[in-house]
Amino acid sequence: METLRITGGRRLRGAVNVAGGKNSSLAIIAAAALAADVSTLENVPHCRDVTTLVEILEALGARIAFVPGRLTIDARGLTNHAAPYDLCRSMRASFYTAGVLLGRMGRAQVPLPGGCSIGARPVDFHLRGFAALGAKVVTEHGFVKAAARRLRGGLFYVPRSSFGTTTNMMLAASMAKGTTVLQNAAREPEIVDTAVFLNLMGARIRGAGTDTITIEGTDELHGSTYTIVPDRNEGGTYLLAGAATGGDVLVEGMIPEHVTALLTKLEEAGLEVVPGTDGVRVRATGEIRALDVDTAPYPGFATDLHPQMAAMLTLARGTSRIRETVFESRFAYTDELRRMGADVRVEGETVHVNGPSRLSGAPVEAPDIRGGAAVVIAALAAEGETEISKVENLDRGYEGLEGKLTLLGARVVRDGSAGIREAG
Ligand code: EPU
Repeated sequence: METLRITGGRRLRGAVNVAGGKNSSLAIIAAAALAADVSTLENVPHCRDVTTLVEILEALGARIAFVPGRLTIDARGLTNHAAPYDLCRSMRASFYTAGVLLGRMGRAQVPLPGGCSIGARPVDFHLRGFAALGAKVVTEHGFVKAAARRLRGGLFYVPRSSFGTTTNMMLAASMAKGTTVLQNAAREPEIVDTAVFLNLMGARIRGAGTDTITIEGTDELHGSTYTIVPDRNEGGTYLLAGAATGGDVLVEGMIPEHVTALLTKLEEAGLEVVPGTDGVRVRATGEIRALDVDTAPYPGFATDLHPQMAAMLTLARGTSRIRETVFESRFAYTDELRRMGADVRVEGETVHVNGPSRLSGAPVEAPDIRGGAAVVIAALAAEGETEISKVENLDRGYEGLEGKLTLLGARVVRDGSAGIREAG
């Protein structure tokens, strides 16, 4: 078992480069699997969820080479329609193979996906979407089986503006016969990134980034070359770590417009925010003020930054409130923060944080990707040493975490065997 040992109390200062987007990469790698030939993707982060998706697509017949930053995928041999159970059950994005296989060969057998324990996370919206494209869909023995002689375009209202459903529908509908209209579509930058890549492959998608996306299906998509958008969640994590330690952090390459809701809240908390063409810088100038935050689909405050924001707010003066509206149980991190001396309480869908707390190092665990990041932030701000277990959850979403933190002046040591471990 690997652990991270963090000796807290050092202000983070300096610059780090933002990685390519994890969630964008997962959707775009899946899109590349629709092609009749080879795609090259740049700026792909080397994190466990990406390598798991690579293994899944290889099991389906794709040939993939992944060197730091660059992934080449040759989808010519992708002819297997049954996705492997063990790999898929560890990760939510494995379910994109359903849209890919259905679009590519008209049939898919895909296990119900796993992923972070942050809510029930069913796939009912995805299944309704496939049915709206004319697929016959059944779920039995832990697998979804979907088939259609040829998908046909249709109108679909995306419930709760679901990110994954919007992605899966863009994948499948790109190869349907006729036009698909998605209403109440997700508007995340990663949706736009995926649509731009699919269009480079020969798809005809309009409206990505708005709540109505129109997809004209086509018979064949070809491979293309593309650079993945920067990871706003990774970048936001380093900005919040800098703020929590009273530091001054520049995240190079981060796109300020992708994190407007976060930057607005950081300013409201009294931090100095400098958005620029080279990235985003956040500097602590004194006391941090308490905040009221509601998570929401983009462009609202990202649920993927909620736990890290809560960790920072343990250092703010007053009572903060974070209402989680996207996932019903994204709160496991609060137990870990309490072990470190934070005054954090969950009531329904709301987290109440009373601060400032004097955090002290303790043995804790990373309960999920972003909850793990919250624990890391608290450890960086705490007095003494924190030992974090279940590091594999952090490795699912963060590339080179301890290297980047060390660059910013943190004391972080990884104990245990080297390399990225199996997804949790
Ligand atoms: N939902 C359903 N049924 C469905 C689909 C979604 O009830 O068929 C519910 C979910 O349970 C949730 C809400 O609808 O309560 C929204 O879920 P959404 O589909 O938008 O999320 P997702 O596609 O499962 C992606 C990211 C998450 C991120 C969310 C929201 C990936 C692989 N995952 O999940 O990222 O939090 O969108 O932005 O892209 C992370 O990176 O740590 C992470 C969890």
